[in-house]
Amino acid sequence: MTRTVYVNGSYLPEDQATISIFDRGFLFADGVYEVTSVLDGKLIDFGGHAARLDRSLSELEMASPVTTDELLEIHRELVRLNEIDEGLIYLQITRGAAADRDFAYPAPDTPPTIVLFTQAKPGLADSPASKTGIKVISIEDQRWGRRDIKTVQLLYPSMGKMMAKAAGADDAWMVEDGAVTEGTSNNAYIVKGNTIVTRQLGNEILHGITRAAVLRFAREAQMKVEERAFTMEEAKEADEAFITSASTFVMPVVELDGQPVGTGAPGPVTARLREIYLDEMRKAAV
Ligand code: PDD
Repeated sequence: MTRTVYVNGSYLPEDQATISIFDRGFLFADGVYEVTSVLDGKLIDFGGHAARLDRSLSELEMASPVTTDELLEIHRELVRLNEIDEGLIYLQITRGAAADRDFAYPAPDTPPTIVLFTQAKPGLADSPASKTGIKVISIEDQRWGRRDIKTVQLLYPSMGKMMAKAAGADDAWMVEDGAVTEGTSNNAYIVKGNTIVTRQLGNEILHGITRAAVLRFAREAQMKVEERAFTMEEAKEADEAFITSASTFVMPVVELDGQPVGTGAPGPVTARLREIYLDEMRKAAV
């Protein structure tokens, strides 16, 4: 089956979808994105992703070409057309194509570019990695200073993934001024006893939509949550570690810089949070 994608108002076969070579997303990484997961053919936390998209757009003084209701309809139509049961929907909005390459923003009436496509991921909620856990290395955080805006500027995170691969690991946690910021494409957590520690919100990290839900469920389940910075040294002494994102949900981390975390196997707090998250979010999916 050929994938159907959405570009600027049209649903098209993927090989017929085009955008301009002058698009500012392409030339300047002048664009924002969201990744929303699909379980049982329904969208997980669409409201959270739509709200963060609005925030990213407004921080960059960028207009949205669609309303939130329209966006929901486009997501649903792509799920339907591509028969997605489990997978992801990628959405990108850029400042559009100016007439030429120019650092200054184009005239405000330049239409933004909007692109959405689906990624089928059968078995996403039951992935082998969620049972075995992943290995993480630490690297220096060399990204720009507005990581709270979900821009398509992802070269350093890509480099980080490659550094992890080269080290025989699955992902990297980035460290700045001695403290962990986040993973290349996820938020980072450690667990000590019944306490979950994750970095506080700020410009240094993306305000994860999964993070917000997981912390809410953790508090509801009477777990203690500390939103503060932690070091790799503290992480290596933790009982458990995990990451969260729309594509991994709650994923155990069993090794940090080659050292086992806790017992070296996924821990009970992580497993419980993953279960609660998936149960509750499936119920609330739209
Ligand atoms: N990444 N931090 C970074 C740097 C991210 O890129 C992401 C998401 C997260 C987690 O955010 P959320 O829970 O809202 O997915 C944290 C997506 C999944 C991606 O780039 O594919």
